[in-house]
Amino acid sequence: MLGPVILAASRSDRMRRLISAAPVTKPVVDRFIPGESVDQVVPIIQDLTAKGLEVTMDVVGEDITTPEQATLARDAYLELIDRLKQLELGERAEMSVKLSLFGQALPGGHELALANVRPVVEAAAAIGTTVTLDAEDHTTLDSMFAIHEELRKDFPETGCVIQAYLFRTEADARRLADSGSRVRLVKGAYKEPAEVAYQQKAETDKAYVRILRILMEGEGYPMIGSHDPRLISIAQELARRAGRKPDEYEFQMLYGIRSDEHLRLAAEGHRMRVYTAYGTDWYGYFMRRLAEKPANLLFFGRSILTK
Ligand code: FDA
Repeated sequence: MLGPVILAASRSDRMRRLISAAPVTKPVVDRFIPGESVDQVVPIIQDLTAKGLEVTMDVVGEDITTPEQATLARDAYLELIDRLKQLELGERAEMSVKLSLFGQALPGGHELALANVRPVVEAAAAIGTTVTLDAEDHTTLDSMFAIHEELRKDFPETGCVIQAYLFRTEADARRLADSGSRVRLVKGAYKEPAEVAYQQKAETDKAYVRILRILMEGEGYPMIGSHDPRLISIAQELARRAGRKPDEYEFQMLYGIRSDEHLRLAAEGHRMRVYTAYGTDWYGYFMRRLAEKPANLLFFGRSILTK
């Protein structure tokens, strides 16, 4: 029951101010968001890739209120890509982007987000890598998929995320499972109403398997975004049945969650990409991580008590 309460708090400005300002929050945040600047995160990228892992980099932030903030976000990604160029990692380091950070919710936001994300996709392609569009709440998805389709005309490898908890996603998966597409399947991290999404975890998990089968049997490149051990073994079995080789799909997990499993899967010869978020506007991202596993609150609470 705590998950939905935490998700509601993730959209509250008052809670944002309270939690962001508390000095005790920082060590807990660091577990999931290992830096606030490019300089802090470059050594993390080097460390992860030296261990045989790949990364997808996310500049944290969402729900911006001015077009200037969207420009700053675009520039933050361009700065990151410039640094990645020096590391020469190619597609081993890709980008994940939330279109709300690029202005999607502002007036004229669809066009604004497209105008801001395009240079990022171009810069990524110029260094041999790609961008994946994250999925946010369900009201944003038609715009996200339209931007994805537009970008794919010039950059067919641009990826997108689909969420198993939404009723619409099986149909989206069928439409997206075409040749050259890159689709990350996740369970879904937002608070969604019963009209559009499964409310029970078991229903979402069953949908995840149905949708993953569509992606594995399709012609695209499935990216399995989950830490769930059961789904990971089902994914391996579905890949085997679909005759996919290890470089024809990949696993993805979040930085700071089940890190041993990242290394285990990579050591078994799987492609394993770690979603690594950094930046100063970490509140929304952090609260979704707490909501996924309310036991994280104990960790948070303990760090407050030991101060
Ligand atoms: P589940 O929640 O069942 O967790 C399985 C196990 O993983 C747990 O038992 C626990 O051990 C561990 N675990 C999971 N979350 C944890 C946490 N926060 N802290 C500690 N342990 C945890 N969502 C979205 O709506 N849009 C998006 O674009 C993305 N993008 C994205 C990228 C990648 C690479 C991943 C892995 C996930 C996302 N998500 C996302 C988040 C996703 O929707 C989902 O909320 C989380 O992955 C948690 O679901 P699991 O599949 O891991 O299963």
